Amino acid sequence: MSDSERTGPRLDRLSAPKGTFDTLPPESATFLAVREEITRTLRLAGYGYVETPVFEDTAVFRRGVGESTDVVTKEMYTFTDRGGRSLTLRPELTAGLVRAAIEHNLYAGQLPVKLYSVGANFRYEQPQAGRYRHFTQVDAEALGLDDPTLDAEMVALGVQAFDAVGLGDYTTELNSLGDRTCRPAYREKLRDFLRGLSLDEQTRQRVEVNPLRVLDDKRPGVAAQVAGAPLMVDHLCAGCRAHYDAVRDQLADLGVRWVENPTLVRGLDYYTRTTFEYVHNRLGAQASIGGGGRYDGLSAQLGGPDTSGIGWAIGVDRTLLALAAEGLAPKQPPRVAAFVVPLGDAARRRALPLATELRQAGVATDLAFGGKGLKGAMRSADRSGARYAVILGERDIADGVAQLKDLGSGAQHAVPLGDLVTTLKEKLS
Ligand code: HAM
Repeated sequence: MSDSERTGPRLDRLSAPKGTFDTLPPESATFLAVREEITRTLRLAGYGYVETPVFEDTAVFRRGVGESTDVVTKEMYTFTDRGGRSLTLRPELTAGLVRAAIEHNLYAGQLPVKLYSVGANFRYEQPQAGRYRHFTQVDAEALGLDDPTLDAEMVALGVQAFDAVGLGDYTTELNSLGDRTCRPAYREKLRDFLRGLSLDEQTRQRVEVNPLRVLDDKRPGVAAQVAGAPLMVDHLCAGCRAHYDAVRDQLADLGVRWVENPTLVRGLDYYTRTTFEYVHNRLGAQASIGGGGRYDGLSAQLGGPDTSGIGWAIGVDRTLLALAAEGLAPKQPPRVAAFVVPLGDAARRRALPLATELRQAGVATDLAFGGKGLKGAMRSADRSGARYAVILGERDIADGVAQLKDLGSGAQHAVPLGDLVTTLKEKLS
């Protein structure tokens, strides 16, 4: 039966949902390498890997991320499961990690609790370059201590992660959002100021619900009016001021460069005190390649102890775009190093065991499938990126050898089958 007979009538072709994309080889190797560099930076600082479910009880995000955020009001993928529970595909990783820390009583152990995770997040946003409905973050959280050294470490780890990836052309923006002592009074002051401006209805509503977000409005008409607004940094209480000064001193000691952005607000409600964002200088509208901050009320919001935390998330997809924007897209490593080309039935029987033997010896190996002749099989060998083809003809098998062909130079010689693994390993080392 042919392939077309098997599939029956032709059906519509399906494609990935709007705002999502597939990451395919060979580019996917860069995705993995970037993820690896960022997480290695975290492991070197003692962060331990955590997996949490991709979906959580909707309350985790409602209470954690906050009812007044765009993420919760407009962007969540929420559904009711067959048991009648309201579940939500995670729009970020922090709330789930803090939920897990509470559930497993991690705050009772060694503090800070240093956790990291990597995974897909889901937000129903208007897709554009760098803004997707399904995207990947590496996320780091340090829980349970309110120590400015932890803030400095966290901001610096982001910088070190980007260094490890090779990125250079970005700015680290820093701000303090105050805490429950000083922010309520500041928020009132800001609200009074904003109420006096000429703003559209939707923005006026935002003034009432979450006035700090208006500071972040990029529309020129709003931004110009907001330019003279009172700023949180000028209204910090003594505790927040001292904390912020200590963070900046320690970052300076570490040689980390940053710029202060007193209107940096961030889109999630849980932030207190130190907040920061890594903004790439060549990415246009979606330039934030990572961001985070302290969230001293989040654990209590989720029913845990009233304790603090700080963290960041780096957007892996945007980091890849930033690498490309800096002309740093790394050379893709070849898929395999060796490619077995069997000619004839007896050779075909030997090809898979031989490839397996090479793989077990650590040589990445593929082979020609589908009964290809010499020409087709050699084309596959070239396309695989392998440095060597191992050609097995009927005669070779009878003689106990294989022809080892250097696909770069074209040079070819016979190697006894028993010596093949050692010979190839030597040539590839
Ligand atoms: P966030 O700023 O919402 O923070 O996201 C962090 C990073 O994820 C962004 O800087 C961006 O690189 C990437 N990102 C966000 N949304 C999208 C999207 N729609 N498409 C592509 N990339 C995106 C958080 O998520 C916080 N949980 C960070 C944090 C951890 N704060 C404390 N701990």
